[in-house]
Amino acid sequence: MGIELFYFNIKLVSFMSLRFCVFILLSGWSASELVLAHALSYQSMLDKNLKKYNIPTTPGLLDGKSPIIVDKTTAIQLGKALFWDSNVGSNGVACASCHFHAGADSRTTNQLNPGTLHLGDTSSKTFNLLGNKGGVNYELKATDFPFFKFDDPDYRSTLSFMTDDVVGSAGVYQQIFTAIDVNRLEEDVCSPLNDPIHHIGNAETRQTTTRNTPTVINAIFNHRNFWDGRANNEFNGVSHFGPRDVAAKIWVAKNQNSKPVSQKLNLVNASLASQAVGPPTDMIEMSCGGRTFKDIAKKLLAQKPLASQEVHPTDSVLATLRDSSGLGLTSTYEALIKKAFNPIYWSGKGAVQDSGKNYAQIEANFSFFFGLAIQMYESTLVSNQSKLDLALAEMEAADNDTMIFPPSFTPQEQKGLENFSNAHCDFCHDSATFTAASNREIYTPNVYKKVGSAYVDRIGFVPSNSNTEVDATLIDNGFFNTSVTPDEFDIGLGGTDPWGNPLSYSMQYVNSIGLNPKKFVDRFMVSPCAFVQPFTLDYKKSELKTIPATSAGCATSKSDAFVPKAQIVKQESSGWDEGRMSTLTVGAFKIPTLRNVELTGPYMHNGSMKSLEEVVDFYNRGGNVQNRRHAATLVFELNFTQEDKDALVAFLKTLTDERVRWEKAPFDHPALKVPNGHTQSSSGGLMEDNYLFIPAVGKEGLTSEPLKPFQNYLK
Ligand code: HEC
Ligand code: HEC
Repeated sequence: MGIELFYFNIKLVSFMSLRFCVFILLSGWSASELVLAHALSYQSMLDKNLKKYNIPTTPGLLDGKSPIIVDKTTAIQLGKALFWDSNVGSNGVACASCHFHAGADSRTTNQLNPGTLHLGDTSSKTFNLLGNKGGVNYELKATDFPFFKFDDPDYRSTLSFMTDDVVGSAGVYQQIFTAIDVNRLEEDVCSPLNDPIHHIGNAETRQTTTRNTPTVINAIFNHRNFWDGRANNEFNGVSHFGPRDVAAKIWVAKNQNSKPVSQKLNLVNASLASQAVGPPTDMIEMSCGGRTFKDIAKKLLAQKPLASQEVHPTDSVLATLRDSSGLGLTSTYEALIKKAFNPIYWSGKGAVQDSGKNYAQIEANFSFFFGLAIQMYESTLVSNQSKLDLALAEMEAADNDTMIFPPSFTPQEQKGLENFSNAHCDFCHDSATFTAASNREIYTPNVYKKVGSAYVDRIGFVPSNSNTEVDATLIDNGFFNTSVTPDEFDIGLGGTDPWGNPLSYSMQYVNSIGLNPKKFVDRFMVSPCAFVQPFTLDYKKSELKTIPATSAGCATSKSDAFVPKAQIVKQESSGWDEGRMSTLTVGAFKIPTLRNVELTGPYMHNGSMKSLEEVVDFYNRGGNVQNRRHAATLVFELNFTQEDKDALVAFLKTLTDERVRWEKAPFDHPALKVPNGHTQSSSGGLMEDNYLFIPAVGKEGLTSEPLKPFQNYLK
């Protein structure tokens, strides 16, 4: 197949210093004829050592005149307890119930979702795994994968089977909340809702999430979280949505005797806190419907954390608080919050009125404490001692800039690294985190602190029906549509928030300059002067207006920036997809990190591939489908030999940190009973659970069996 792509990536070099790839592909050239002056250089290799980077800063959290967190150690303890505590969910579900295996989920039973995000498909509520298999409580088999089956997996040949089913994670039963039961903390008082999908006969089974569970390890580096980026970079103290949720507020007391007053919170680089306040009240993941954070506060505040769970005597975070009985901690959630957080958030006098009810300040602010404590714990889950990191440290110590490959890599790993670069994997899986979705601060800290953005770019390519005209599209840096499924299966970044605002930055940008002039709902800057494909290349001068360089964040450029006039944008924008103001957002997903990817299967937003071999086949054949603007993604046929493919997989495995594989500190944890499919019996309208017992692990890690790749758990 010919590759119709014309791509200049030169400007990115100055902006993203790590990247140096200039490639020009002309119509009719095949992948093997690519002319590449590509990325492998001494410095760009050394910069892939994650140990060289600090986590992004969250101003005001631990610093400043009145920091939010006053005792970091306690905040991390609180976060770890909350993350692993099965009392947080309504039916014995902890965050860790879906994030227990290298930060992800390796369960194989009752994990299938029938593809409920599939747009406009009335049959999307049915399971349709190959040969009419699947359904609730189904145990996945190795032969069920991949979910798009080609006669020859190396080419986009005859597609013999595809499904919109998704490997998600089992959460809670579909129920409505009535009350907290302080005597049975794992189970809230709830009543079943006759779930139309998740049931066996008259009894409900646990619901499953609509997307695959990504790892929480290294998620602290992501600028936004979730596959569609909806966990906002700014934390508002209450919900996922940062500044979009205008009603969100926290309660602050000037001093111990004053009455708490409501205040807005806009804490930057706190996407993990934004993320963490979602699941506890989510009706699929952790909660009976209608349960609020204030209910959860009433349930947990007076309780002993991890009350029924074993804590290892050498737990790297919790050992000092471990109850001598071996179960749980000696403290209460209330005591830990008061120790960790600034008193202005919990010590105010008098009740706080919210939705007509009275709460103590510490109850009203519970989501705020919860989100930030979890973020503090997740900030410690950084894996920077993989074979790659260690090899790069050695290479740097040798101080020989003629080296390109780490000397301690095997020839196969070196070949794999070369293939990784030649196949443009590092165009998207870039920098030390192996994802362009990382906070720009970690690329070139000072530049991004000053300029602030580069979260939106505009790139160009020659569409397949033309070899002259350059077609350009705006992108949200860090998100791409790589044609894993047809767009309508899941529109990903093309979605909106509950108020109808686009999740995507580039769609907000188009809105702001043309369609519906208004401020962005998120706070970010776009620098049109730094675009790879600036507007000046596709618009006539008369169609453009200038804006001052400074207002466009073009601090490094002397010239003014050019953007299309509003009426021009209006004239030609019939939708997001076409014309010169198109955006590549529908069907785009956050580029996942590749660190520890050996252990975090199944892969992709839909969990449709069981092994790295299947992922590499996917890239080798140039995607499963060809979505709109497929060419822009650089996912095209690679013509790799078996040897090339094996080498690429071998390289990906150098990204595993042995501390993750062996659950050594900081990846050690309390014991957890994870619901894992159902038995044949039911009670109270709910199918009973089988369990997977995850033992408590101390800082030395597992002693017998390490964590294994997902496919090893499949029959
Ligand atoms: C029922 C399973 C389940 C539970 C329980 C759960 N998660 Fe997740 N988690 C998921 C799924 C599925 C996604 C991806 C959802 C999406 O992107 O739309 C996810 C995404 C995330 C992410 C984003 C990672 C990334 O790279 O985008 C983080 C961080 C995370 N979860 C942390 C938590 C925390 C903290 C809790 C508890 C408060 C929690 N999860 C509870 C299933 C679960
Ligand atoms: C154009 C950007 C882009 C390029 C180029 C690219 N990827 Fe990806 N990669 C993504 C995105 C986006 C996803 C998630 C897609 C989805 O879930 O639909 C992904 C997913 C993956 C995953 C699954 C990770 C997980 O946790 O589910 C692996 C492994 C992977 N890519 C490896 C590679 C390799 C190897 C190459 C080169 C052959 C490559 N990628 C090239 C953007 C890219």
